[in-house]
Amino acid sequence: MAWNTLIGQADRAFRLGIQLEKNGQPRKASASFHEAATLYQCYLDSESEFGHVTSLSQEDSQAILAYACMRLAFLNLDALGDPKAAARLYKEASAIDPFPSAESFDGIGQALEAAFGGQHLEDAIEQYRKALELAPERQESQFHVAVASDRLQQSDQSEEIFERLRRDESKWSCLVDSWGYVRWHTRKIPNDSLYLYRGTRDIMEVALNAALPLIEQGGLVCEFGVGSGRSLRMAQDILPLDARIHGFDTFTGLPQAWGTEPIGTYSTGGVAPNMEGKVTFHRGLFRDTIGPFLKEQEESTFLAYANVDCQLYSSTLDILEGFHGYIVPGTILIFDEYICHPSWRYDEFRAWRECCKRFGWKYEYLAFSLSTKQAVVRLTTA
Ligand SMILES: C[S@@+](CC[C@H](N)C(=O)[O-])C[C@H]1O[C@@H](n2cnc3c(N)ncnc32)[C@H](O)[C@@H]1O
Repeated sequence: MAWNTLIGQADRAFRLGIQLEKNGQPRKASASFHEAATLYQCYLDSESEFGHVTSLSQEDSQAILAYACMRLAFLNLDALGDPKAAARLYKEASAIDPFPSAESFDGIGQALEAAFGGQHLEDAIEQYRKALELAPERQESQFHVAVASDRLQQSDQSEEIFERLRRDESKWSCLVDSWGYVRWHTRKIPNDSLYLYRGTRDIMEVALNAALPLIEQGGLVCEFGVGSGRSLRMAQDILPLDARIHGFDTFTGLPQAWGTEPIGTYSTGGVAPNMEGKVTFHRGLFRDTIGPFLKEQEESTFLAYANVDCQLYSSTLDILEGFHGYIVPGTILIFDEYICHPSWRYDEFRAWRECCKRFGWKYEYLAFSLSTKQAVVRLTTA
């Protein structure tokens, strides 16, 4: 096969992987990235033969292969729920790349934390420090070192970093504020079993497993903010086959601007994703669709599980007010943008806490993720 055909095929497989990843089809995306990586590797192996006719240097090709490994690693960490595979792939990327990136070392650290909770914090810190050797100003890695050091009671090291980040732009100072909140609410969990870097799929698994008893009693399973269907597909993958999922969205994107995201961000042009299985879509603004939907249900109906992924305070409020009376002890909610962004105290977090106060709801946290920004809550008293 000619070198340019090989590289052309690798590029196509790589681009397809990105598209499939975006559409929430992680297994197909993974197969595509694997194909791309294999083709890039074949190309590298045969470069002595074709090197004289290509403009790509050996180093460039290795860097491209490393990048394919990083995409695969992230996919494994976030969408496939396999952080050990992610750690291996990030390590491979850092070994292949002639100029290893700070992201790959940071990725190893986070994947180790996602796989082993607090059991390998020293190893994770070592990786974050390698990232910082390459990019000393990298705030994410500084934050990760500081949190892990704090958990190991090395507060002299962590405080210095937190202090620096507190003085930085809100994009970074909010991380310190979020960690303060998470630290307080996880203080009774032994270090080894505290997982703070779960990916999206793992967080959904925690939530859906906790909701299973109510789902088996016929409780509703809902997704608020379907978008392209990425998280809905993950829920479908985790749930028993006969579980029905209700997806609510306008499919025209955010009804108001949110931070740097303008009105209409996440629009799918009014088109609902093409889903197999027992999924029902309720198209429109939450405040217009939830009431009529609930009127159609039996009187005894209740909410077992909801993924709240709509960013906005007002949208979250519409969901929680709409479901008042249907949210019962045991109901599980995932909030997708709960912490770790500049306005976290004013969005989903605020709507949830205001409703808890108004409706007398008591709750406990089942999980936080400092990387995906999610939180899982279980209602204990309604
Ligand atoms: C971040 S996207 C959801 C992403 C999706 N969960 C995924 O994994 O692909 C947020 C979605 O919330 C929807 N949304 C936000 N506020 C809404 C509201 N008040 N009523 C209906 N849909 C809303 C937007 O249309 C958008 O599709």
